[in-house]
Amino acid sequence: MKNYACIFDLDGVVVDTAKFHFLAWQKLANSLGFNFSEHQNESLKGISRKESLDIILNWGKIELSDTAKQYWLETKNKWYLENVLQMDKTAILPGAKDFIERVKSVGYKTALGSASKNATTILKIVGLDASFDVIVDGNKTTKSKPDPQVFTMCADALNIEYKNCVVFEDAEAGIEAALSAGMYAIGVGDKMVLKKAGFVVKDLSEMNLERLPFKK
Ligand code: G6P
Ligand code: MG
Repeated sequence: MKNYACIFDLDGVVVDTAKFHFLAWQKLANSLGFNFSEHQNESLKGISRKESLDIILNWGKIELSDTAKQYWLETKNKWYLENVLQMDKTAILPGAKDFIERVKSVGYKTALGSASKNATTILKIVGLDASFDVIVDGNKTTKSKPDPQVFTMCADALNIEYKNCVVFEDAEAGIEAALSAGMYAIGVGDKMVLKKAGFVVKDLSEMNLERLPFKK
């Protein structure tokens, strides 16, 4: 048995939901009278809902009570889910389903490691809820990426050594989390943003088993 694992982030790696997070956060900022750029949005990727709100309010130089923050967290999620609930299998990003299946077919383990509290809902919507050996999401973690917790929890649950895990990430914070866990990080998305990754693919359709840094 090969003791290796591939750990996948969800939003922006497996499913095309990163754009819906951006739209909902922008709507929130606009409702509070300011805006932020797509460049700023890169630093929100992989970050928990609560921490993202604090970062955005800081950009807008707005201070809110805990009650008001709670209101905006719920409103943001409501806006986000309006788009998410309309998705179907076509929201799976190119190559993701095939690559995950190929990884499993040769006996490597698979895990989903996401900060999202909506992860299981989203996996069910796109029909990938049975595709991972382990799922660790934002309901299970106490620390947000770049802390390695979400990925070390995946590896521990799979009983695979950290150095034998590869993480697929579209977020700078996620690449950092993987590296500080001692795992190999493969970027999914923009080479200019994901500079610390071992290498970067546009999407998982560019991946194959030969590109995994595992001993044969
Ligand atoms: C992922 C996304 C973030 C999002 C976070 C929490 O990491 O990249 O943009 O804020 O999950 O998602 P949630 O669905 O719980 O709001
Ligand atoms: Mg992501």
